[in-house]
This record gives sequence, structure tokens and C-alpha cells, in this order.
Amino acid sequence: MGRMSIYITGDIHGSISVGRRFNSKNFPIGKTLTKNDYVIIAGDFGLLWVGDREDRYWLNWLTNKPWTTLFIDGNHENFNLLEAYPVEEWKGGKVHKITPSIIHLMRGQIFELEGKKLFTFGGAASHDKQ
Ligand SMILES: [Fe+2]
Repeated sequence: MGRMSIYITGDIHGSISVGRRFNSKNFPIGKTLTKNDYVIIAGDFGLLWVGDREDRYWLNWLTNKPWTTLFIDGNHENFNLLEAYPVEEWKGGKVHKITPSIIHLMRGQIFELEGKKLFTFGGAASHDKQ
């Protein structure tokens, strides 16, 4: 097994762009990854938006990709849906496991991924705070 790889992106905003962001044309390396590799979405994951069929379709689509998806919440999330998941410990920090390979990294945690430490924090100014 090779070393794990970490890729970072942001602002998926759910079904608006998840399919385009991670299709094999725009993210060709994706098909070479394994569940030991991580794609981190640094805010505005948005696939727990209304909890409808469309959300479920794309959560399932993303779960079936070869990698593990991690995300930090952004200003555009449905926090009621996120917080309905049980809090679990994972790699040293608190998470919500949304599916077997989509994990919400909660804020203010430190995770250790194969010797790399990752601190999760939110709170950037939002252009549409009101
Ligand atoms: Fe955004």
C-alpha cells in the first residue's frame, strides 16, 4: 500500500457542483485513489441540504468514489441536518459519519492522519451573514 494522498477543495455546494468537481474529466486522478486517500472539502459541502432524494443520490454517488471524503462545515450548510448525526471519535477528533466514506470533521478538533496533524476551524466572514 502506498502513502496516502490528501487533496483539498472547497465550496461544493451540494448537487450544484459535486458531479462536475469530481467527474473523471475534472479530477482524473480520482480513479487511481483508494479509501486510504482523502479529499477534503474545506467548507460549503452542502450535500446535507434538504435531506431529499437529490441529496441522497449525490451522497451515494460520492460514497461510491474510490477515495474517502472529509469535510469541514462552511457558512452554507444545513446545521440541523448535520447535527442530527451522532458524534463519534475518529483519528483523534470528533466527527459525524455521514456515510461509510463521507466524514464531517467537527470544528475545533485536531486529527492525525498518518503522522500529519490537521486542525479544523471555521468562522471566516460570510458575505451573506444576515
Ligand atoms: Fe461557498
